[in-house]
Amino acid sequence: MSGIVIVGAQWGDEGKGKIVDLIAPYAELVVRYAGGANAGHTLVVGGEQLILHLVPSGILHEDKHCLIGQGTVIDPHVLLEEIRLVQEKGVTLTNRFTVSERAHLVLPQHKAIDALREARQGAIGTTKRGIGPAYEDKAGRRGLRIGDLLRPETFRAKLQANLEAWQPVFEALGGTPLDPEAIIKDYLATGEQLASFIGEVGSVVGDALAKDARVLFEGAQGTMLDIDSGTYPFVTSSNAVAGGATTGSGVGPTAISGVIGIAKAYTTRVGGGPFPTELQDATGNKLRDAGAEFGATTGRPRRCGWLDIVPLRLAVRANGLTELAITKLDVLTGFAELQICVAYELDGKRYEVPPYGDFDRVTPIYESVEGWTEDIRNCRHRADLPDAARHYLDRIEALTKCPVGIVSVGPDREETAELVDPFIGRGA
Ligand code: IMP
Repeated sequence: MSGIVIVGAQWGDEGKGKIVDLIAPYAELVVRYAGGANAGHTLVVGGEQLILHLVPSGILHEDKHCLIGQGTVIDPHVLLEEIRLVQEKGVTLTNRFTVSERAHLVLPQHKAIDALREARQGAIGTTKRGIGPAYEDKAGRRGLRIGDLLRPETFRAKLQANLEAWQPVFEALGGTPLDPEAIIKDYLATGEQLASFIGEVGSVVGDALAKDARVLFEGAQGTMLDIDSGTYPFVTSSNAVAGGATTGSGVGPTAISGVIGIAKAYTTRVGGGPFPTELQDATGNKLRDAGAEFGATTGRPRRCGWLDIVPLRLAVRANGLTELAITKLDVLTGFAELQICVAYELDGKRYEVPPYGDFDRVTPIYESVEGWTEDIRNCRHRADLPDAARHYLDRIEALTKCPVGIVSVGPDREETAELVDPFIGRGA
């Protein structure tokens, strides 16, 4: 079996879209396995930008079958708009794009509840895309799924029951009641438009793997936003980690032969929650400006800080990483000195991995390393990098005990060092 998982090793926005787009040529199938339109994957090809929220980032490679698995939650309007954008680029989707009939629907009540909750104090800082309430319905066994869009009577009955279930919450939050008939009409119409893309993703992926096809599993968000391994409750509501690739696409763990963790050369986070290495000063602003750190989905300025090895150690373990890909190394060009957080200190004790609960009280322990001033965007091999940049990567490897493979030195496809066929592996 030959499946590679691409997973975020930090708090999301690590540049997974670009790496999936680069690795997709080596695969036959690309499967998105978790999350929903909270994700924003930015692709830059020939200077042109395309932001995708649901459609897998491999979609621009026309010989690939791209699939959205059962672990995701889908807003059909966002999906239809993305299909339109991709088709507008002249890309054909016929017979090469499948959405799982088992994926849950994001409904208007989910978005309304998400927004009402976010208006309160102490909110999570969600993307307000209805993700949390949609997953609540899934776990509560009252969700509606993509397949229900093709069964009008089932859809009607389930929708009415679902709205009734949310009614007390709506009232408590002061929400305006929604019109069931309007939702039914609107969603069934989206079903008609999506019908030719709806299918059994698990079987397609399973059959392909059985025929030795190479499958790329595309994660969304990141390890620290995973509902089980992340900074709970400041997390998203799905399993963003590599394990989600199997439950989220309907094939077993033996399908996975490698896991690539994507990490930025520094750290960012959007929304609330602990972020030990955050820099709320001129250095943080410099990182934000140099890295264009504004959310691809919400446009919110991202919180920025030094590279934190502690979450990366967790990511290596929780995902079983076989290698790290370091992105945005070029953004660090021009800093005289760089700091790497190697561990935390809390109440006199040193922590190499995140401590339970008190994550917001830790003090980062830093190691200073020399910066570089040379433009590295034309480097295509690690050996081409300035000594200080090479040393930076060496330290990441030594501190995480995980090899660094791909290094991204700019937003474009071309601006990448050490790309090899991940299904064959390095040194093969
Ligand atoms: P939700 O997924 O919209 O419920 O948001 C929960 C938390 O995850 C918030 O802090 C969001 O900012 C964060 N989040 C969700 N999706 C992404 C993403 O794709 N990149 C970065 N942060 C995200």
